[in-house]
Amino acid sequence: MKKTLLCLASAAALWGCSGSQQTSAPKGKVSIIPMPASISEKADSFLLDKQTVIVATNESDKKTAALFNAWLKELTGYELAIKDQGDKNAIVLHTGKDTTNAEGYTLNSDHNTVTINGNSNSGTFYGVQTLIQLLPVEKANAMYIPGVSITDAPRFAYRGLHLDVSRHFFSVEFVKKYIDLLAMHKMNTFHWHLTDDQGWRIEIKKYPRLQEISSKRKETMAGRYADNKYDGKPYGGYYTQEQVKEVVQYAADHFVTVIPEIEMPGHALAALAAFPNLGCTGGPYETGTHWGVYDDVYCAGNDSVFLFLQDVLDEVLPLFPSKYIHIGGDECPKVRWQKCPKCQARMKKEGLKDEHALQSYFVQRMEKYLNSKGRQIIGWDEILEGGLAPNATVMSWRGIEGGITAAQQKHDVIMTPGEFCYFDHYQSKSPNEPLAIGGFLPVNKVYSYEPVPTELNADQAKYIKGAQANLWSEYIGNNDYMEYMVYPRACALSEVLWSPKDKRNYDNFVERLKVHVKRLELKKVNYAKHVFEVKGAVTENGKGGVHVTLSSQLEGGKIFFTTDSTAPTPQSTPYTQPISITHAGTIRAQVFSDGKPFGNEFSQTFIFHKGMGKKITLAAAADKSHSPASNFAMVDGIEGLASYDDDGQWFGFKGINMEAVVELDSIQDIHGVGINTVNLKSDWIYPPKQVVFSVSDDGKTYKEVYKQTAFTQQGINKVRGKLQQVRGRFVKVQMQNFGKIPAGAEGAGNGAWLFADEFIID
Ligand code: ACM
Ligand code: ZN
Repeated sequence: MKKTLLCLASAAALWGCSGSQQTSAPKGKVSIIPMPASISEKADSFLLDKQTVIVATNESDKKTAALFNAWLKELTGYELAIKDQGDKNAIVLHTGKDTTNAEGYTLNSDHNTVTINGNSNSGTFYGVQTLIQLLPVEKANAMYIPGVSITDAPRFAYRGLHLDVSRHFFSVEFVKKYIDLLAMHKMNTFHWHLTDDQGWRIEIKKYPRLQEISSKRKETMAGRYADNKYDGKPYGGYYTQEQVKEVVQYAADHFVTVIPEIEMPGHALAALAAFPNLGCTGGPYETGTHWGVYDDVYCAGNDSVFLFLQDVLDEVLPLFPSKYIHIGGDECPKVRWQKCPKCQARMKKEGLKDEHALQSYFVQRMEKYLNSKGRQIIGWDEILEGGLAPNATVMSWRGIEGGITAAQQKHDVIMTPGEFCYFDHYQSKSPNEPLAIGGFLPVNKVYSYEPVPTELNADQAKYIKGAQANLWSEYIGNNDYMEYMVYPRACALSEVLWSPKDKRNYDNFVERLKVHVKRLELKKVNYAKHVFEVKGAVTENGKGGVHVTLSSQLEGGKIFFTTDSTAPTPQSTPYTQPISITHAGTIRAQVFSDGKPFGNEFSQTFIFHKGMGKKITLAAAADKSHSPASNFAMVDGIEGLASYDDDGQWFGFKGINMEAVVELDSIQDIHGVGINTVNLKSDWIYPPKQVVFSVSDDGKTYKEVYKQTAFTQQGINKVRGKLQQVRGRFVKVQMQNFGKIPAGAEGAGNGAWLFADEFIID
């Protein structure tokens, strides 16, 4: 059959048919991250081809047009002419002078033109970022831009990403890419953490020893902190002032403000290594080689310290036009100050009641200096201790409390709580994850973050200027790993910060992310794939058994699995329907894209018994803090692991007994019963006094069939009773709680925890 062009009304909406447009060109999906404030789609669409022109009438918009061209060239191989006027087959950029919401814009596209009206040059830039996301992600000669009408502006003024270049150094080229990606997600602040114990990374011409000594360390921690192992390799790097200027200009072209952080009074060991006179003890010091917090900090009693830092800032300020300078302020131990005659003399002279007040003195003195130069300071939330500097902005990282306190004191706040904003935390519990600092922060948790604490009233909430994710680089030693930690979590954060609160919807975000990752691929970003990797859900199968449902959100992905513990390949069994568990073993599954594995595999080990998936009733519910999603977890064929707190299997009963009944389909032979429990007294988890199993035909009259009273194993105890000539339909387990924790033990006087999982009936 000849290809015919169907242009019925509905098909037109679907395919973007309009007049005589070519139909071979791909059409962009409306799939924008962060979600615009308001968007409506039209049946119409705009055909972009070689003849299309960009109209831009000022220097800034011309630069923005050139950035659009750079993206387009990747897709089409050509760039569009940038002209001063035109109204047909044109992308028209208009920029107004609305300073009330400078970053807002409107975008309208139809078959004639795409018109972007920015409230200011930054608004126009964001309109163009949206336009880029309206392009298809396939390479083509010509392409359709869907017809839309968008009115958009950010929810928060401060939308940031931080990068620690001290623990590991990142090249100028990488930093530019980092900024480019940040801007692509309509974020506007890059917090450059330039100095720390393990390396000073910015050239200061007056103090060449910062380059010679402080930018270098003799070796680096290898593996986990607790391993206390080192790689024996010298490490170093710093940015010249010319390179800094280049980065700051690049950022400005992308409407990103760079905020430098020069840490004080703590995290200063690299500087002390070059200038030991600036420490309380006089040294000698060497640039830090292990992670964590060092006791040696700048001496707060020595005026040379303030003069040194002022000299440093005198060279820093001309490089960074930002209103804000970050002065650190976090994790400053006070032990040296407590013993230092100079520090103690300062406290006496200034009437400071303790070392926290001395830290406050330090920060306020530096604030005064920076204010005198027309700048404002930002500090980590420790700057609240001992009294907040009068004009300081607080970055709340140790939870949200610092942010709440600062907002209540009418200070501006940037939220960066570890639980939601520390992208150095793990994204998955898979054992295949690369080593990270700890914590668990998957994409959906980032997406769920609400920066304005409910504790604040409407007036106080105005002080929450936005939020930022932090990338501490102790364990993140190369570009690929850094990108893996940032994306797509930063995509999620961008939507938290830009989109209206009521527009946020995680499922919808994931749908858009499916398209968006193709853009990240075009930018050669090594993004993490957890959102799309295969997931498994273990549930009751509707027939009194257990099955595993596998799924993946990967567009075009195919899932293969094995049941014999071998690694899944595209030659393994293709997944078509839930897999019933019929024997003990391990299900391993992987989603493949074009024959290549995508993300981590799913792996779940099962035992097998006849109670699995059967009706189970608990006499008393487990404590809310240690309660699996449903009672089914007690008979799902999955035994709780030694990481007992974390695997969603263990039922915890605080100070009370546990009793459960499983109802089989019929009266039948029962060859064995069992249950697992935990003996971990240091964690207040005590084995039961006794475990009793009994059996019944009718669920009313029970006969005891097995009893155990000793549980001597440290950790998990597997209670197992072999039975002979026992028949029944109902099986009951009763576990007697240990009772009160005895005197002298951890948690004495509290009710002991009783842990139970997997009620086994053979
Ligand atoms: C910090 O994470 N020490 C601010
Ligand atoms: Zn001192």
